[in-house]
Amino acid sequence: IAVSAGLILLAYLLGSIPFAIVISKLMGLQDPRSFGSGNPGATNVLRTGNRKAAVLTLLGDAAKGWLAVMLAYWGHRAFGVTIGVVAACAVAAFLGHVYSFFLKFKGGKGVATGLGVLLGLQPWLALAVALTWLLVAYVSRYSSLAAIIAALLAPLYYLMGAKAVWPMHASFAVAIVIVSVVILHRHKQNISRLLQGKETKIGAGKSQQP
Ligand code: G3P
Repeated sequence: IAVSAGLILLAYLLGSIPFAIVISKLMGLQDPRSFGSGNPGATNVLRTGNRKAAVLTLLGDAAKGWLAVMLAYWGHRAFGVTIGVVAACAVAAFLGHVYSFFLKFKGGKGVATGLGVLLGLQPWLALAVALTWLLVAYVSRYSSLAAIIAALLAPLYYLMGAKAVWPMHASFAVAIVIVSVVILHRHKQNISRLLQGKETKIGAGKSQQP
């Protein structure tokens, strides 16, 4: 129990590291909470025009989710921590990003971290979700729309691939549904901007107001 609780807490703290803010500070860029959508995420960092900072944010935010799940798997192998705890660590890391301990429980929208935890839980699923995101982003040029569609499809993909491609874990299914629902909820403003035709496209710069 102590090992499980420790892993879940560690996952939450890892997830809480806001790479958008850390990297922007290190690279001398404006705080992403002060322009564009105001969201501390790779998409908004890209609005500074600094692609390198955006890519590093994406990688950092995804890597922390992946790492949290990898640590949980290590606990599973070394200490017999259950698969349910692995799923709980995935959710904890993801919620860490969205409700960060270091940002007074504020945070990002969870897209990169959600992808990172999926990569840890089920790499083939993560690949399918990432390709979906890329396809929608490429066609529509909306990062948010790509995230919304990928979040809607992720649980379906998991069920479709379960048994046929990967083993079915009920706890993973629950974790994926939680991640998807929170991502969708966090995109409420994006959804209304999309409906009003006011959403900023990828590459449009800082024009949008926070
Ligand atoms: O990853 C978040 C993305 O889906 C939307 O970001 O900054 O356009 O609200 P943003």
